[in-house]
Amino acid sequence: MNEISYTIDGFNHCEFYVGNAKQTAFYYCSTMGFKPIAYCGLETGNRNKVSYVLNQNKINLLITSPLKNNTEIGAHIERHGDGIKDVAFTVDDSELAWKTSLNRGAKSAIEPKEIKDSNGVAVISAIKTFGDTTHSFIERKNYHGVFLPRYHNNENKFTYDETGLIHIDHIVGNQEEGDMKNVCEYYENVFGWHRFWTVDDKDITTKYSSLRSIVMANNNEKVKIPINEPAEGLKKSQIQEFIDFYGTAGIQHLAFSTKDIIKTVKKMRKNGVEFLPTPSSYYDELRKRIGDIDEDIEELKRLGILIDLDENGYMLQIFTKPLQDRPTLFFEIIQRKGSNSFGKGNFKALFESIEREQQKRGNL
Ligand code: FE2
Repeated sequence: MNEISYTIDGFNHCEFYVGNAKQTAFYYCSTMGFKPIAYCGLETGNRNKVSYVLNQNKINLLITSPLKNNTEIGAHIERHGDGIKDVAFTVDDSELAWKTSLNRGAKSAIEPKEIKDSNGVAVISAIKTFGDTTHSFIERKNYHGVFLPRYHNNENKFTYDETGLIHIDHIVGNQEEGDMKNVCEYYENVFGWHRFWTVDDKDITTKYSSLRSIVMANNNEKVKIPINEPAEGLKKSQIQEFIDFYGTAGIQHLAFSTKDIIKTVKKMRKNGVEFLPTPSSYYDELRKRIGDIDEDIEELKRLGILIDLDENGYMLQIFTKPLQDRPTLFFEIIQRKGSNSFGKGNFKALFESIEREQQKRGNL
């Protein structure tokens, strides 16, 4: 098996395949403060697809729609609804990353190719992972433009108001029941990653449903991908609801970090982002469970923000409702204050909140 001799330097971007890229991009700009920085489409000579590049600090989202029928993008939307096709990593050597992955058992999605424009050259390749999802390897050390070659500066006048999102903390993949271990082994074998954190169905269970999760991380731990699977409960797990509506395994949520979650969530709520409600009883025992924290608990309660702690500190987090009509993809906002874990203490409250929403959808 080939040694891992290339470096992953973090998430480069996530590509969404959606039915109407213009309106999706507008929504993420006007409600979450992403700035449209680049574009490709008919006006830039691309007659097959349109893509908007949205940026906020270190986060890049690529929002793509097909411009004609019978495309791979259209087939993806038909199969899954709007969702995330590609989780792209920034690497020092795209061809080496691709070759190493294939030698270690991965299947190719895109063979390495150079793309150029007047700002330099980038190399792109991709491999397949769970469901129809892919991982691109983006090498852009010799590229000096705003995103990638052949994307032009954006001329759309979408309004945006920064909400303080900084970087992608983690990206979660939902698997079908029984597949979690195989998918984790794929990340161990193909990428040489390690298990960062795990939680089993005894930790995360409500009266009705449960899940298992293993967080996979790369060497420098800049990339973390929790892998979930449903566990048997009295009623349908939210992971199974995702699988039913997405059709296969896929990306369940992106977690964005902020340095001031109160400010971020206030702005997003004002802009119309819907978050999962937290019952006020959650806050009753909080001071006992958490001790003293910097934030005003009444303020956290008003905004519905969850708090959890581990031996290193605490973290604050909140989850949006699904971002499209199907109960599939959503976002998490997270502020870490020492804690590196994934909110085990919050899972029960979170699940009960999700179950109330599932109930309304007739999917519990
Ligand atoms: Fe998360």
